[in-house]
Formats: sequence, C-alpha cells, structure tokens
Amino acid sequence: MNWQPLIEAAVTARGRAYAPYSGFTVGSALLFDNGEIVSGANVENASSSLTLCAERVALFAGVAAGHGRVVAAVVVAEAARPVPPCGPCLQSLAEFAGQDLPILLVLPNGRRDETRLGDLLPQPFAFDRVS
Ligand code: THU
Repeated sequence: MNWQPLIEAAVTARGRAYAPYSGFTVGSALLFDNGEIVSGANVENASSSLTLCAERVALFAGVAAGHGRVVAAVVVAEAARPVPPCGPCLQSLAEFAGQDLPILLVLPNGRRDETRLGDLLPQPFAFDRVS
C-alpha cells in the first residue's frame, strides 16, 4: 500500500479545517475503489452538534461523487496518541467499506499506526428484516 498520496491529501485538508471552538484540527483522506482520493477536514459550528468530522466530510463527498467503496483511509491530527475515527465515523465507514479496511493514523511527529476498521468497530450496527 502506497500511503504517501493519502497522507499528503489528509495533511493538506487538515490545513483547511474550520475548528475555532475546539482548536482541534483533523484531516482525512480516503481511497475509493475507482482509484479516486477524496479528502476532508472537520468543520465546526457555533451550534456544536452540527459539527462534521473530517472522515465523514471525505466519505460523504466521495460517495456522492459516485466513487464507490472505500479501500483505504488516513486520519491526521495532533495529539498525545494516534487519533482513531470516532464511533459515528466508524459506523459511517462500515456502510461503504469492509471490516478489513486499512486505516492509517498519522501524527505530525511522523508516527504512523496502521489498524483496521474491524479492530476499531468489531460489530457495526446492521439489521436483517424478519421475512
Ligand atoms: N473530529 C474529527 O474530525 N474526527 C473524529 O473522528 C473525531 C473528532 C473533530 C470534531 C471536532 O471538530 C473536533 O474533532 C473535536 O472533537
């Protein structure tokens, strides 16, 4: 897996984050199965529940553009430890990716931790209708 283009896209996107309330900027980049890379940044709002995470900004833009399913994901943020996607972002990713989805958590100090969607969200919500 060549992570470099995804890392660069996520770092650039993080620079565009709108986070005046938390001061915590996040960048994400997703590789879709048609080869397209789509990035996103968190966008906060004075009405805090309206805030959107970087991962879902990227995911929904890529899905709405018709790029298909997600095959790799990068998250970049600056913190004491690597920053995994939050629960709602994991559930959203699970809608468009397999449990084997590789997720690279990147810190600006160069640390990179690779994990998988299935490790972070072992049991995504799903339902089968009673027939
Ligand atoms: N945030 C993300 O962008 N991604 C996550 O997975 C968790 C949190 C953002 C939302 C908010 O703007 C800031 O981080 C602090 O919670």
